[in-house]
Amino acid sequence: IFQVAAAAGHTVVLVDQSEEILKKSTKGIEESLKRVIKKKFADKPEAGTEFIEKTLKNLTTSTDAVAVVHSTDLVIEAIVENQETKNELFKTLDKFAPEHTIFASNTSSLQITQLANSTTRQDRFGGLHFFNPVPMMKLVEVIKTPMTSQKTFESLVDFSKAVGKSPVSCKDTPGFIVNRLLVPYMLEAVRLFERGDASKEDIDVAMKLGAGYPMGPFELLDYVGLDTTKYIIDGWHALEPNNPLFAPSPLLNKLVEEKKLGKKTGEGFYKYK
Ligand code: 3HC
Repeated sequence: IFQVAAAAGHTVVLVDQSEEILKKSTKGIEESLKRVIKKKFADKPEAGTEFIEKTLKNLTTSTDAVAVVHSTDLVIEAIVENQETKNELFKTLDKFAPEHTIFASNTSSLQITQLANSTTRQDRFGGLHFFNPVPMMKLVEVIKTPMTSQKTFESLVDFSKAVGKSPVSCKDTPGFIVNRLLVPYMLEAVRLFERGDASKEDIDVAMKLGAGYPMGPFELLDYVGLDTTKYIIDGWHALEPNNPLFAPSPLLNKLVEEKKLGKKTGEGFYKYK
């Protein structure tokens, strides 16, 4: 999100918990920008280098959100999928951010309304949900709560377009559009595998070749992160315990317990070098 905003000419401050994480993120962005220019500036390598330099100039980092929030117009939160942690962050930032600043959450599964209620700016609060990998995926879901003002909603739509994305809107409902369809589908794939009906490799091949998906459900689970998927399903299960689509998966829980979280830890459903 940081990368696409900076590439579009916005001045962006990335805030995270430690210098080490920030260093890793910045390195990841540099790598990603190199991939982006390969295609975008295939026959103009100098323009590509200039694009990277210009983008990196728009970026700064900090470990202190409170110290930098005073100069923001828009805050996009993308921290751990935990209601209390997010509420705490928004509550604090609300005290130090300028009056006009819009707050947005990139939450995959939590209610935007509840997050907005942790602040005094419910009318300047909405959802901006991006998709992995953000530089490639064209979609942004823009979520309007009953309290979000039309002006805020329009600003969020305009911001999404300005960073090169195609916005769609959805009410503040569990999973919005994409995750409401994608997460039960991925969990259903795990159940198919758990029953021994097919191997995970065959399920992945089947969905890629039979339905044209770029990744099979197990590849996608590993890519998104098994912990993220577990947070999502656990949250929905708590909201609707009788909905079979939101039933937790014992296998997913076991892998998360073993810290096999997918690509980012080197192992999930598959092993990565
Ligand atoms: N940054 C920049 N470029 C990237 C990139 C990144 N992080 N990741 C991939 N690319 C580029 C590659 O450089 C390559 O560019 P090229 O065409 O110029 O060579 C292009 O994307 C294709 O990449 P690959 O050849 O490596 O592999 P694929 O063709 O399989 O594409 C993919 C990779 C775009 C990730 C594709 O597999 C895909 O679309 N997968 C599905 C992703 C998906 O479903 N995302 C949504 C997840 S749900 C979510 O995010 C919601 C959250 O709330 C849980």
